[in-house]
Parts: sequence; structure tokens; C-alpha cells
Amino acid sequence: MAKAAASRYIVGNWKMYKTIEEALHFIDTIAPSAQKSKAKIMLAAPFTAIKSLSDKAKADNIAIGAQNMNDASEGAFTGEVAARMLKDAGAEFVILGHSERRTLYSETNDLINRKIKRALESELQPILCIGESYDEHQAGATEEVLKLQLTSCLQGIEKQGLSQVIIAYEPIWAIGTGLSLDAKIASQTHKSIQSMLKEMGADGKISIIYGGSVNASNAESFLSADAISGLLIGSASLHPETFAKIIELSQNIG
Ligand code: PGA
Repeated sequence: MAKAAASRYIVGNWKMYKTIEEALHFIDTIAPSAQKSKAKIMLAAPFTAIKSLSDKAKADNIAIGAQNMNDASEGAFTGEVAARMLKDAGAEFVILGHSERRTLYSETNDLINRKIKRALESELQPILCIGESYDEHQAGATEEVLKLQLTSCLQGIEKQGLSQVIIAYEPIWAIGTGLSLDAKIASQTHKSIQSMLKEMGADGKISIIYGGSVNASNAESFLSADAISGLLIGSASLHPETFAKIIELSQNIG
């Protein structure tokens, strides 16, 4: 698990894309940019590619992680994958609570809370995704929704555990739609999330990254905004040249 918080994170979420061969080719292409990057480069790969990628990626300054896991330590859960199996395959982190998991697989805050606890116990760094729907956004309920997600998903996690968590703020309506949030508005929301985390007893050093239709044209505006510690990138992380470009853009920002 990452011991010290990096100053910036560039995280790719490949979703259900890429065979092992495609994934290895991707790593080869971005390696020169990743090797000289000051940001922490992280790729959430499909389960099947984690083992093949992890050794090679580490040498290139890239951390490999997963996009989901089960909350139990092991057991008769056909088709599920446990945290210790991910760790064993070389994963360093896991994305939890992504809106696609919440919406398509009915994951609740309570389940996500149990998964985060299990990930921490297994020394996998959790990236907790939170975000409001379009209707909630329009109704001005964003902060209320985020607060509920944060307090429920992080319930019972002590300061030490909290310091390992990365929060990804992803407005659901911005994911995969091309409708990214204005960086200034995202920055304000990140500041509100910071205050909520402080109220919950976190020590103020939790990194909050932004996700939702980030691409090579808008990445710089998010990376240079206050309180945004990095990016969670879906579609644009599938193309190695685009992802490498975003890594390079992050170098220009102090
Ligand atoms: P997107 O996806 O970059 O394609 O909007 C982001 C995500 O799902 O994490």
C-alpha cells in the first residue's frame, strides 16, 4: 500500500476492456512518460490482466489495481474475487463504489463500507468513488448526497485507515458522457468534500481526485485547480497515446 500520499495521481479505469496482450502493449507505450512522471500513475485493470501487468508495471513507475472486489475474506461465493487474491496477483489498490457498480450491480453504501474495510485490512489502497446524479445536481442536492456517501462508506474507519483512502469525486452525469464539470466548480466541490472529511476526523491530507469525461483537452484545467489532487479517467485511459499525453501535461503543473 502507498505509504506516503503522492502529490498527484493519474488513475486509469479500463472497465471491461483489454486482453493481457493489449494491456502489455499499453504499458510499453506509456512507459517513457510514466518513468519520468512525478505523479503516481495507477491503472485499474481487468482481473485477468493484473498478474501479467504488475511486475512489469512496477519497474515503469505504474501501480496496477482492480476495479472491484468482494467484501468477504474468502468463501463459497461463485464468481467473486477476494482482496487477498488481488494482493497476491500484485494489485496495490482497488476502485470501490464506482457508480457503474452502484447502478448496474446495486451496490449500497453499506456494502461499499465493508469492502473498504476489507481492502484496508488486506493492504490494498481503496479509491472510493462518490458522486451525484443529474437530478440531484439539478436539485442542488450535491453536497447532501456526497456527505451521505462519505459518512456511510467510511463509517467506523479510524484516522489511520482514512489516511490510506483516495476519494474520487465523479458526478455520475459526467461519466462517459463528454459533459465534464467546469474545473472551478469541481474545485469548489472538492473543498466541500475536504471539510466533510475533516468533520469526520480525517487529518486533512486525504487526496481527492476528479473523474468524469476527463480527456487530453480538459485535463490541465482540473490538474491546476485547487484541491484537485489528480484524475480518474475512463474512456481516455483506453488510448495509450492520450493517457501518456495527460501524464505529460501533469508534469507542467507544479
Ligand atoms: P469517463 O469515465 O472518463 O469515461 O467519463 C470515468 C470513470 O468511469 O471513472
